Amino acid sequence: MLALAKTTHSARRPAWAPRPRPDDEPTATTLGFGDPDDVASTEMGDDDEVAADDSHPSWPKGRRTPVSLPIEVDGRFLATRELGRGGMGAVFLAFDRELQREVALKVVTRTTPTGLERFRREALIARGLSHPNLVGVLATGTDRGRPYIAYELVPGAHTLAQVFPHADLRRRIELLRDAALALGHAHGQGVVHRDVKAENVLVDIAGAVRVTDFGLASARGLTRITREGKVLGTPVAMAPEQVRGETTSPATDVWALGVLLYQALTGYAPFQADSIADLAHQIVHQRPEPPRSLDPFVPPGLEAVCLRALASSPAARYADAGELGRDLDRALAGDLGTVRRAYLRARACPDWIPWVSFAAAAGFLAGLAATAL
Ligand SMILES: Nc1ncnc2c1ncn2[C@@H]1O[C@H](COP(=O)(O)OP(=O)(O)O)[C@@H](O)[C@H]1O
Ligand SMILES: [Mg+2]
Repeated sequence: MLALAKTTHSARRPAWAPRPRPDDEPTATTLGFGDPDDVASTEMGDDDEVAADDSHPSWPKGRRTPVSLPIEVDGRFLATRELGRGGMGAVFLAFDRELQREVALKVVTRTTPTGLERFRREALIARGLSHPNLVGVLATGTDRGRPYIAYELVPGAHTLAQVFPHADLRRRIELLRDAALALGHAHGQGVVHRDVKAENVLVDIAGAVRVTDFGLASARGLTRITREGKVLGTPVAMAPEQVRGETTSPATDVWALGVLLYQALTGYAPFQADSIADLAHQIVHQRPEPPRSLDPFVPPGLEAVCLRALASSPAARYADAGELGRDLDRALAGDLGTVRRAYLRARACPDWIPWVSFAAAAGFLAGLAATAL
């Protein structure tokens, strides 16, 4: 079980939130799309104190240290601008002299043995995946002790967290459908992402989704580097089995997509708390409020899809992200049969019965016509 609670976390309410929750005091802190530092990918109890090769001052350390650019990398790349930074690495816009094109060069910032091993795996796993909505790997290497991955540049990349506030509901669902289908491809290859969240789903300048950051992924055939009972992921998006440190599966990514879907539908994260410990407790022991109880205009079919993705038991969720993506696609097309199936599955899942029988049944019967967005 979880032994974390290092910090108390604050978060801004998403800008597209339809209305404040009745119990939201201005001083209340919640976990929605907050400060990315607050919701960083994490391996609780990681070996941060053991530093690896840090002899090259030009490279960034951790999440904040500034870098003086441009930097020559491995005699091949010229990094000119920082594009973003997460829990594992810093990503730079760089020119690749060999391929004569711009790339997104990710350099590891977490120089612990585990961090370096995870980065090596990220390269290995991402290299093995090829899908138009996943970011492809162009090259990998090491520069002065720092491993790097040259990814395809996602031009004009914005994260889902940046895009959602400006997108209408249909658009948000389309983006999630494409992310789900891309993750479904990874699942088909035996890869579980394990860190699906708004910061790891990019949208390019043409509006296409590109899922990235397989830094915490597991893959069939690779030995585990997470010890049993260790907690891995980003708190707000963690599935109950992740919180408990149990084995993850494609259904773990389905849960995280369910969290994003909940945010797309209501503007809120399904669980909100003042501390990670409280959040973890809620994820394991509570059920999210049905989206339609926050906003009655949420189409009942999408509510049913969302709640199926957020079932406590992995077996009650969609088996993989592709299945979820296909249901989202059907909901977008106004396929009422799908809506009904998702609703019936919701009813079959015991931990939903208390509220599904009231909220969803009423919505389902009365609001089928509203399903088409
Ligand atoms: N291929 C890319 N093209 C453009 N920007 C990118 C690309 N990859 C990552 N970024 C930016 O860098 C940020 C951090 O990248 P990410 O791979 O998620 O790092 P971390 O593993 O540290 O979380 C992303 O949120 C995004 O803003
Ligand atoms: Mg990331």
